[in-house]
Amino acid sequence: MTKPIYLDYAATTPVDKEVLQAMLPYFCENFGNAMSIHSFGQEAMQAVDQARQNMADFFSCTPSEVIFTSGATESNNLAVKGVLKAYYAQASKNLLKPHIITSLFEHHCVLDSVRAVEKEGLAEVTYLRPDKNGLVRVTDLEKAIQSNTIFISIMYVNNEIGTVQPIGKIGKLVKKINTTRGAQVFPIVFHTDATQAINYFDCHVETLGVHLLSMSAHKIYGPKGVGALYIKKGTPIRKVQDGGDQEYKMRAGTHNVTGIVGLGKAIELVQKNQAKENKKIQLLRDHLIEKVLTEIPQVRLNGSKTHRSPNNTNFSFASVEGEGLLLSLDMEQISCSTGSACSSGALSASHVLLSIGLRPEEAHGSLRMTIGKFTTKAEINTTVKKLKIILTRLRKISGSVLDEYYAKK
Ligand SMILES: Cc1ncc(COP(=O)(O)O)c(C=O)c1O
Repeated sequence: MTKPIYLDYAATTPVDKEVLQAMLPYFCENFGNAMSIHSFGQEAMQAVDQARQNMADFFSCTPSEVIFTSGATESNNLAVKGVLKAYYAQASKNLLKPHIITSLFEHHCVLDSVRAVEKEGLAEVTYLRPDKNGLVRVTDLEKAIQSNTIFISIMYVNNEIGTVQPIGKIGKLVKKINTTRGAQVFPIVFHTDATQAINYFDCHVETLGVHLLSMSAHKIYGPKGVGALYIKKGTPIRKVQDGGDQEYKMRAGTHNVTGIVGLGKAIELVQKNQAKENKKIQLLRDHLIEKVLTEIPQVRLNGSKTHRSPNNTNFSFASVEGEGLLLSLDMEQISCSTGSACSSGALSASHVLLSIGLRPEEAHGSLRMTIGKFTTKAEINTTVKKLKIILTRLRKISGSVLDEYYAKK
């Protein structure tokens, strides 16, 4: 039997064996509650502290600026809603309705959080449209800033098309505006969802100029159900979940010790191996892009070729449905994605592809193939070979359906 080919690393990654080894003792032996003061608890807390230190080393921040959560969805919800809560907690009764800026192609957990507060009448929102290459323009963002802007959320790397946003430049702009605003006025809090960036890009928070940064373990060969939010010291933000005093009173709930240990190990491995692995993954990505664009007719690459994550490809194939393509590839034991994995099952066209100007039929014919550290060149070659056969078959079917449709007209 041939080995299945996995090309959906942006949806999730397998747990690295080293990560699993690090986690194992914390299931059955060192199983204490990290908030307990006895030795079982202390042992667990030491492991949590070590993981927090690893995170702080990676982000170049202090350990107390890292809050563990259940993943990027929770981190993003906490970022949006927690800052708004801090704004409304101010003593002044004459508060202006605050203004939020985000982009139209954020992950749903950011977009839906922002839409929720907008719907409740708690904030007004500007949704920036990225350009046709999938990049947010800093000039658009600058124009959108108002005196009541208190929160900006722009993702670091888009999860569908892999485009890299100018986070450092936005960070500098926000810093300049906050300096002129002065300490008496509520600052602009700058948040980035870096979930898809951790494996590949510089995430030093001072270089980026961010106040808040979200991430998730399962995109970096760690376990599912654990993530983190970096919170720069002094950032106005309130907790949104009530209960225990965990995580500097910012996130109530018993620590997911095994998950946190796994995240700590995963981030350590990213830091150690990033440079070497990035190079290999980028070469494979370029090989895949080159092969698809030269060997398959009527195809386009979605998103900038240059400002792009080393692991991402996203194509639109004319005259086919992404869902059909996906299922046919799955029957050949090749796993990829059309749109983001979190939204598969919904037949609406990808909001990301529509936001960069694709027509719905182009968005429906899209296929995302994302590469990871276990991908091989042979797998890429097999995938393109199968893709060509499947496309010829599907296009023949869609062609005859269209011929029939026009014959009846
Ligand atoms: C950019 C981005 N943000 C947030 C998430 C959600 O992360 P989690 O699964 O940890 O909740 C994802 C997952 O697909 C993502 O790609």
